[in-house]
Formats: sequence, C-alpha cells, structure tokens
Amino acid sequence: MPYGSRLAAMMTRRIGRECVYTPSARLALYLALRRWCRPGARVLMSPVNDDVILFVVLAAGLRPVQAPVSRWDGNIDPAAVPESTWRNVDAVLTTNLYGLPDRVVELRHRCDELGIPLIEDAAHAIGTHVDGQPIGTFGRVAAFSLSKHVAGMAGGFLAVDDARTRRELELLRDDLLTPRRLRADLATTLRPLARSAVRSLHLVRPVWRTMQRLRLLERDAFRMDLHAPRLASSARHAPSLTAYEPWVRVDLHGFRSRHGALVRGQLELRMALLDGDLARRRAGVSLLSGTTWASPALRDGAGDGPPPLFRVPLLVHDRDALLERLVNHGVVAGYVYDPPLDDYAGAEFVEPSPDPAPARWFAAHTLPADPLLARRIAGALTKERATTARPPIPAPPVFDTTTTTTTPPTPLGQ
Ligand SMILES: Cc1ncc(COP(=O)(O)O)c(C=O)c1O
Repeated sequence: MPYGSRLAAMMTRRIGRECVYTPSARLALYLALRRWCRPGARVLMSPVNDDVILFVVLAAGLRPVQAPVSRWDGNIDPAAVPESTWRNVDAVLTTNLYGLPDRVVELRHRCDELGIPLIEDAAHAIGTHVDGQPIGTFGRVAAFSLSKHVAGMAGGFLAVDDARTRRELELLRDDLLTPRRLRADLATTLRPLARSAVRSLHLVRPVWRTMQRLRLLERDAFRMDLHAPRLASSARHAPSLTAYEPWVRVDLHGFRSRHGALVRGQLELRMALLDGDLARRRAGVSLLSGTTWASPALRDGAGDGPPPLFRVPLLVHDRDALLERLVNHGVVAGYVYDPPLDDYAGAEFVEPSPDPAPARWFAAHTLPADPLLARRIAGALTKERATTARPPIPAPPVFDTTTTTTTPPTPLGQ
C-alpha cells in the first residue's frame, strides 16, 4: 500500500479525485510545480500569500509573476492581468485566500485557452465550493493542508484526475521524504494537544508574551527575514528543495518528514471530525459576516450560506496595533501576509505586479479572524473600538487601459 493511502482514501471520498498524501501542503505544491512546470517557467500568483509559498515556487526553479488582485479579497483579479502578461505565463497558481474562492471558472477558462496548467492551492479552502463544485476540483492539480482545518500541524494532499498521475506523484514524493524520527513524531503529535490546552486554560497571553520575550518565535515580523544574498546563491541549485529548506520549512519543520503511524493515526482521527469543524467555522463566519468590519466579499456571498472559512478577513484601521491588543484578549491572529510578496522580495526574486495598490491596501488592512473564535474576537474588537476600513476609490489605471478593470467580488459558494 502506498504511504499514507488511508488518509488519501478519506480525501478521495470527500472530493472525488485521486489523492496523494503528503506531510504538508507546501510539499504537495512543490511536487505539483515540479511535475507541471519546466525549470525557468513563469507562474502567475497573488502577492497576498504566505512567504513560504513564494519560496516553494523559487525552490521549484520558477519565476513568480505577481498578479493584480481584487481589493476585496486579495485573490488574483483575472480581468486586471494585462494581456501581455497572460501571453507570457506558463502556469497559474491560485491562493483561495483564507478560504475565499479564487475566480476559478474564469482562471480555468483562461488557462484552457492558453494551454497552461491551473494549479490550485486549496490549503485554506477545504469545504469551499463555487457553483456547487468543491475548490480543488477545478485545476489540473490541487494541494490541500490538514494543518489549517483540523489543527493537525501536519498533513496535506495532492488531488489529480487519474490513477497513473497519482502513482507518478507518489514516486516523486517518496524521493523527497526524509526518514522518520520518533522524537519528531512525538513532538508533532503532542504540539496540537499542548496548543489546545493553552487555549482552554486561558494561558494564550502569558505563553505568547513569554515566547516573544525569550525569542522562541520563528518570525519577528509578519514576513520572515529574506536573507537576500543567501537566497540569491540558492538559485544556482534550483530546482532543489534542499537548497531552499531554510525558508520552506519555516512554521513547519517536519514539512517533508515521513511521519509514522502515530502521526498519521492522529490525523485520521482528526479528519473524521472535519465535518463538525466545518460546521463550527460556518457558524463563526456567519457571526463575523454580520459585523461592521466584514469585507463586502463576505456579505455578497451570504445568499449561498456562510462558507467554512479558514480565516475571516476583517478590514480595519490600525490593524497592527489591534493585533497587539488582541493578544490581551487571548487571541493570537497569524496568517497576516503583509507586505505583498513583490514589496517583500523585490524584482530580483519576483516579477512585480503592474498594479500593486490593491494588494498593498488589502494586506495592510486585513485582520484574519479565526471563525472558531468569532465571539471572542467580535467582543474584543468592540471593546477596542476597532474602526472599519474600506478601500479607496480606485485611481485611474496607468498601464494598459483596456485591461485594468477591477472585477467586483465573486459571490461565494459554500
Ligand atoms: C496559502 C497557503 N498555502 C499553502 C500553505 C502551506 O501549508 P502547510 O503548512 O500544510 O505546508 C500555507 C501555509 O500557511 C498557506 O498559507
């Protein structure tokens, strides 16, 4: 039996595609990029994304091309991508940021026209649908993360259409896995339990502050240090996961570990509880969508019922100060993708977006709220007198006047 096949079968039952188990979504994405893109290929992606994903794209030996995004949800705005860019990209990578769906129907259509692969990053979007169809079934391949939805702090999947491709990817994966270590498996199993104990004992604030003070956190800021000279010299070895490992492993050192039965068994138990988790997320999204801070992208989808988002993007002024004060209410909000990747990494490492303003605005004003903590977060923001931010009226386009219209928020499927 292939490694992780029981977990893969659980995911296949959920989305109806052939699935490959991976220890993380980042490894799944690396495999997808290596399988569908030749070295040097140009990949269109949103700059409002985890920096780890930028490093995965670089590790695969590819050039990340930053797309203009929707100011409402941070996902690629296909209509704002200049025709000259469309003609010069070799693949499209979605984000489905916080679980809000990318404009997948449009992107799929464009990719089909151009004969290039659509690669879906569905790490945030287990349970999100567009027109009744699950995110992760639109592209040639999709990556999922169990760390996000079942708090497993390990686990991911690649989903493809046929068994032959699945087997091919299993072999590629096996080549990249590092050997199992019992100590690391124990840590992976215990970490989520420790985290939920800290939460239920109301110790989030003291534990977080102590970790900050003792410099035990891997990131001092929203973005990790780029270490530009070292990153530039790693390019000589690309494609190579090993050369980029110092960046790719941040927040999840076991991202390529061949976890044993202990970790996988725990993930099976957690996955069996996924539907309950998604229902609780829907309830939290429903509560937060009704607040003044909710992005209009959320309200517009209310007709289909609330989606089970990973995080709810709330749009607020003074976001950074609010994040600090939320810690006093026992809430540590991660997954802030500020600044956008083109501002963070610069033109040496990425091709900048032709229209960076919407990404900058969205990245600077978004407070990603965990829907499982909806009541606590809404209460804390009320006490802190958080004020709602709305994007400025778009300035007239400055590059190609025929292609810069910003599409309105996509109505959400559930
Ligand atoms: C958008 C996105 N994709 C992929 C990943 C990688 O997921 P994993 O931690 O399972 O590797 C992350 C991690 O936070 C992410 O935010």
